[in-house]
Amino acid sequence: MNPYRQWIFPCLLDWASGKMDKERTELIALACGQVLELGAGTGANFRFYSEKLDTLWALEPDLPVMARAERVRQQLPTAQADKIQLICADGHHLPLADNSLDTVICCLVLCTVPDPGRVLAEVHRVIKPEGQLLVFEHVAANSDSPRLQDWQRRLNPIWRTFACGCELNRPTRETIEQAGFRFEQIRDERHPDFPRIVSPIILGVAHLIPLEGVEG
Ligand SMILES: C[S@@+](CC[C@H](N)C(=O)[O-])C[C@H]1O[C@@H](n2cnc3c(N)ncnc32)[C@H](O)[C@@H]1O
Repeated sequence: MNPYRQWIFPCLLDWASGKMDKERTELIALACGQVLELGAGTGANFRFYSEKLDTLWALEPDLPVMARAERVRQQLPTAQADKIQLICADGHHLPLADNSLDTVICCLVLCTVPDPGRVLAEVHRVIKPEGQLLVFEHVAANSDSPRLQDWQRRLNPIWRTFACGCELNRPTRETIEQAGFRFEQIRDERHPDFPRIVSPIILGVAHLIPLEGVEG
């Protein structure tokens, strides 16, 4: 593996994480029961889980990044650490049973996975009908900011290279809705502390859209 990906990128992730504690606290406080965190990275969310957590399946495909998450896990109080299971796997093929999760967390990951629609189809499969999808993502600028849209489009190729596949301009809210989820709450705004090109964010809670017309 190249040294940038193995050593430098995980450090950059840790450094950037410091600016997001407010959003992480707010989002992760809602997690309960059997929880999946997609692309858990270096474990930046682990310390925010409450006692409502039963098990956290922290899925991460990148082994050096996962090794850092394991060190973070080991530093937690034992009762909290014991609830966390790290899984090295790809979000496009979740090694989890159908309808088995109360909460799925997408935190700065749908910007990076190669096929967000496919990942969300997997989330749809594994989440319980009454489960919740918690989302914190940076997204494409709205059409009322055409200059920012233009900069995101221009800078995307170089950003993608240095941010290990992360895309600046994904319409993530729409992709989630097209995958069969409806937001019950959503904040669609600019993050005051992020660089401008990654400042458009969404923070919200979505549920599965119930199948209509199915006779019991
Ligand atoms: C920007 S980092 C965010 C990490 C963490 N969620 C956080 O909030 O700090 C994106 C993460 O997505 C992971 N990722 C990339 N491709 C993935 C895939 N196909 N399935 C699951 N996770 C993936 C990366 O390895 C990385 O850890």
